[in-house]
Amino acid sequence: MLGILTLCLATCAAAAPLAGRATRAFSVLRFNNVADKFSTEGRMDPIISPGAASAHSHGVMGGSNFGLTVQGDQLLKSKCTNSMIKNDKSNYWVPGVWYQSPHNGTFKKVPLFYMQVYYFFDITNDKIEPFLPGLKIVSGEAGKRTPPATGGLQLDPSKGPIQSAQFTCPAQGDPDRYPRGLADPGNRGAGAGFPVINCDGYASPLRQDIHLPSCYNPAAGLDDHAHNMAFPADNHGKLDCPAGWVHVPHLFFEVYYDTPRFAADWRPDGRSQPFVLSDGDRTGFSLHADFVSGWDRDTLRAIIDGCDTGSGGMDTCPTVLGGVNKDDKCVIDSVVPDPAEAWVTALPGITPYRGGVLGATKKPEGSCGRAGLY
Ligand SMILES: *[C@@H]1O[C@H](CO)[C@@H](O)[C@H](O)[C@H]1NC(C)=O
Repeated sequence: MLGILTLCLATCAAAAPLAGRATRAFSVLRFNNVADKFSTEGRMDPIISPGAASAHSHGVMGGSNFGLTVQGDQLLKSKCTNSMIKNDKSNYWVPGVWYQSPHNGTFKKVPLFYMQVYYFFDITNDKIEPFLPGLKIVSGEAGKRTPPATGGLQLDPSKGPIQSAQFTCPAQGDPDRYPRGLADPGNRGAGAGFPVINCDGYASPLRQDIHLPSCYNPAAGLDDHAHNMAFPADNHGKLDCPAGWVHVPHLFFEVYYDTPRFAADWRPDGRSQPFVLSDGDRTGFSLHADFVSGWDRDTLRAIIDGCDTGSGGMDTCPTVLGGVNKDDKCVIDSVVPDPAEAWVTALPGITPYRGGVLGATKKPEGSCGRAGLY
């Protein structure tokens, strides 16, 4: 049975090359968000911690039916979304960025600047299909505190371990952003973990960058986030999924934070920096992203097949079934909200480290990293 299926897929791909894509296309999904806020923030993660408060806080965008659990096509019934595509009720979330005062150790949330999600339709022999409602995707390693091999991205499973998350630090005058080995060898503006300078690019502060895998394994199913997705592998210049898997859009989250507002409060020393992910990680190596699809499939199919607006925005695609969304009032109630105070002595859900909060020269608990550097 499996043999026949594999044979059929191989034969079909060879006989019908039009099913694949010879050129890459992409379109950026934007959100309507009042004062550049997430739709909700708090200790919620219906993928990793369904039904309970999550270990750390996240910033969430998208459909209003988000909650501590998300199952099947529940998101499709959201009464609103802040996605600029009305028929996209998906949720997109990341661990937020906090600032830790170098003067007294307390934390303050760094406000979102803005977030957008690239939908890449890569060159492939496969037919790219819209997500099934309820598909859960996770990318990045939430427990990671050790530096990766290089600061570069590595998205091809045939070429070594996957490295799907980075930070980008736009900066005037193109200074070094990273200490030894952590800058991306192909892009010195980006690298692994937090950069050690104030990112002062014009209208372009510190940014989280996370690529999500685009091959779905139907045998694992929508909910099994640990096994249901993989990155496609290079096949003579085309990015192909394993036989029997479904090629879906390649998502790339860009999440900008308003870090320059803290610039006057800390002094870069080339080694350390004051920002921390909401999971207590000062290195930034644990950066991760989550997605649950709430797409109307016909709407997304029309975009996959007929849209290449690039940075111009998905809201300008030639065919947007259901229409463009202008609603900038769609918020999601937080079931486990973050504390209301501006400065807090501990990050929500995170037990302070022994001997006090994360001291500037202490190494994070459980880290094999280099003491003193972070
Ligand atoms: C801690 O330091 C920050 C500046 O880094 C300041 O705004 C805040 O008021 C201080 N909090 C206390 C309790 O001193």
